[in-house]
Amino acid sequence: MSNLFTPFTLKGVTLRNRIAMSPMTMHRSVDGKMNDFHLMYLGARAAGGFGLVFPEQIAIAPDGRTSVKCAGIYDDDQIDGLKRVTAMIKDMGAVPAIQLAHTGRKGSAEPDWAGGRMLPPEHPDGWQTVGPSAIAYGGRMPYAPRELSKMEIAEIHTQFAAAAYRAAEAGFEWLELHFAHGYLGASFLSPLANQRGDEYGGSSENRARFHLETLDAVRKAWPERFPLTARVGCDDLHADGLQFDESIAAIRWMKEHGLDLVDLSLGMNSPEINQVPFSDMGFMVDRAARVRAEVGIPVATSWNLGKPSVADQVIRQERSDLVYLGRPALSNPHWPVWAARELGGQDPIDLVPRDWQGWLRPYRGNKAASGWPLPTSNEGDANMPQT
Ligand SMILES: Cc1cc2nc3c(=O)[nH]c(=O)nc-3n(C[C@H](O)[C@H](O)[C@H](O)COP(=O)(O)O)c2cc1C
Repeated sequence: MSNLFTPFTLKGVTLRNRIAMSPMTMHRSVDGKMNDFHLMYLGARAAGGFGLVFPEQIAIAPDGRTSVKCAGIYDDDQIDGLKRVTAMIKDMGAVPAIQLAHTGRKGSAEPDWAGGRMLPPEHPDGWQTVGPSAIAYGGRMPYAPRELSKMEIAEIHTQFAAAAYRAAEAGFEWLELHFAHGYLGASFLSPLANQRGDEYGGSSENRARFHLETLDAVRKAWPERFPLTARVGCDDLHADGLQFDESIAAIRWMKEHGLDLVDLSLGMNSPEINQVPFSDMGFMVDRAARVRAEVGIPVATSWNLGKPSVADQVIRQERSDLVYLGRPALSNPHWPVWAARELGGQDPIDLVPRDWQGWLRPYRGNKAASGWPLPTSNEGDANMPQT
């Protein structure tokens, strides 16, 4: 039976465990380039034992960013910064993964830390967003996108393919297409955002066409030996939005078009959702398990899986093949090491870089003399020097 620390192989890539650092946008780039901040932040998580490490979603076009501070991969000049990051992640024993994205009607925003408001097209840091239809997201994103022509859709597929080609050149070994969270892919699949009258709108087959064509284009540019995966927003949690059963069919078609693993998340295509599950422990797990069983494809999922016993159970019960951690990876760069200590069965020290391993082992059986990580219980405290 597999557990959280069982290696996982997909195509030609083996992860040392089932724990991924989920993609998280940082708004720290200048001209879309990665810099020392990313090297520090991502290198630390790789050194902390994660099997798979995603930077943030990386834009395939300038207008596919969330803010002007987001990372991009639409220019050859952006490859060097990404290369430094992938080399560091690999040196620390993890596999570097890239999430390729176009934000569609959710772009043209301020960084989250500056307030996260949407900026109008005429603002110096804003732009005219695009989408399947000229329908604004609403709420705090009031500016309507421009409807994409069929020629522009084809151009976006080409941009995804060019980005995949650059991603391989930059050293990434795992690729995820971002089809969730209300961004361009998600908005094509959702009737809330897509009301087109042509072959990209209407039936679910038509609304999934954007995804299948993107997969076809990327598959040609991305090495066959590396996994091609997607984060799919599989439920809009809205009566008029995308329903989960419809997504299962769409994921089945994506599998036929070369998808190797699906990472389940929400559609987020409307600010008005009929439940707010964001603090419920593992609320995507049931959907992941259904897709795994019904489509017969490896799955991953995130959302409140930061309690080690819960994450481990999800793997042991074969409800998900991988666990993606967002906020828990922010709060604890060594989450996998900590989880190994909490759960037992996996030597936590094996998860840190070999340079430190000898120094962290108990010295001649004296636990108090061992370095970080200290036991989470009070065990060993009696041996501590008294002040
Ligand atoms: C600061 C922050 C930025 C995020 N940016 C992205 C992103 O770029 N792409 C994405 O797919 N999800 C993004 N997410 C969502 C996470 O990847 C993850 O799916 C979500 O936080 C749920 O997992 P968690 O409960 O472990 O945090 C972000 C989350 C956070 C907290």
